[in-house]
Amino acid sequence: MSGARTQVAILGAGPAGLFLSHLLARAGIDSIVLECHSRDYLEHRIRAGVVEHGIAKHLDAVGLGERMRREGLVHHGIELRFDGRRHRIAMSELAGNKTITVYGQQEIVKDLVAARLAAGGDLRFGAEALEISDVLGPTPTVRYRHDGIESTITCEVVAGCDGFHGISRQALPPGAARAFERVHPFAWLGILAEVAPSTDELIYCRHDRGFALHSMRSFELSRFYLQVAPDEPLERWSDAAIWAELRRRFATEDGFELADGPIIERSITTMRSFILEPQAIGSLVLAGDAAHIVPPTGAKGMNLALADVRDLAHALIAKLVHHDESFLKAYSAACVRRAWHAQEFSTFMTTLLHPLAGDDFNNHLQLARLEELTSSRDAARHLAERYVDLASMRLFADATP
Ligand code: FAD
Ligand code: DHB
Repeated sequence: MSGARTQVAILGAGPAGLFLSHLLARAGIDSIVLECHSRDYLEHRIRAGVVEHGIAKHLDAVGLGERMRREGLVHHGIELRFDGRRHRIAMSELAGNKTITVYGQQEIVKDLVAARLAAGGDLRFGAEALEISDVLGPTPTVRYRHDGIESTITCEVVAGCDGFHGISRQALPPGAARAFERVHPFAWLGILAEVAPSTDELIYCRHDRGFALHSMRSFELSRFYLQVAPDEPLERWSDAAIWAELRRRFATEDGFELADGPIIERSITTMRSFILEPQAIGSLVLAGDAAHIVPPTGAKGMNLALADVRDLAHALIAKLVHHDESFLKAYSAACVRRAWHAQEFSTFMTTLLHPLAGDDFNNHLQLARLEELTSSRDAARHLAERYVDLASMRLFADATP
């Protein structure tokens, strides 16, 4: 079996793995990125869409913001819709003029892949990591298969950025970490449609038939999500049924009109909350979905992944360039703490907006909470602050070098 050597072996070329490789390269640290899927698959996988204020600023600061600033849509508010009425949460006004940028995850992935390849980065697509060994010993090693051939990489640090279904967590010594998990009793049916958005700002809509979200990707592309049963078969939903259900849920007293168009992508996402603690042991460090999953209602998953990596890159630069291990020692605690705050916000948004069939007590509480949020400036401010910039909250600033 042939072998290569690098300073940091990175598993996964999602936002976390690619961003880590980019930040390390800027400090002169080499890495090899292993990704089991093709470049084309990654660049077209539709997922998250909202970039928080502080994360967008950080992408700018490290040379990745140019296309996002040109093509991304800057938003200053969101709408909460319930009982057929629209209520604007003026996020920027409430949260120190901060904004969110609507820019698809796959666009960030494209920008990162382009930046890494232009800088001569070693990205191996179609390369599946099979096993990580010796994370407590002197020669951490990753065994992987590429084009049917097995090889190894030895390194100083293994970065597990391989998402929730990756193999990194399995390399933690038995009993060394604890997982906290909750599976929510519904899923999201997501679609991308070739039609101009029927709104200028995102609409989070609570309806007795279920939650609906109107988002977008550009002036020509709209993104929608519908709350469905957790085991919902995608085939049960014809295009006409999807549009009819979206119209029912988004309907308002003042006659909201929803434009439709060809549906070009559709998928079902299960809703899970998961936090692993700690997320670093020996020479194995985890970042992003490999270490934590939040339900998507708060739009935090990708932001959290990028925030982990911002901290991890600092910590690895301190270790590998300045021989200072202290930041790496603090890495896990800072990330886990941030992940719990993101979990709390995402759970808050999820339980606020998804009615539970047959639980009228819960459903009335939701309406009372929504009325509170849309009539109390303090309550709205609290939501706005966490929605626009949770992953860069000052609370965590002391943990980064
Ligand atoms: P990922 O993007 O999952 O990247 C991990 C990478 O590792 C993948 O490319 C995978 O192919 C690769 N990999 C896995 N195993 C191996 C292996 N053994 N060897 C090599 N490579 C491997 N968040 C939101 O905020 N809003 C949303 O609307 C939203 N929608 C989502 C829809 C879906 C279907 C999913 C799964 C997630 C969604 N998320 C959403 C969450 C958000 O997309 C994630 O938080 C984000 O992708 C995390 O980035 P990551 O780099 O940590 O993980
Ligand atoms: C999108 C996804 C989310 O989960 C969310 O809360 C807001 C927007 C999106 O895909 O655009």
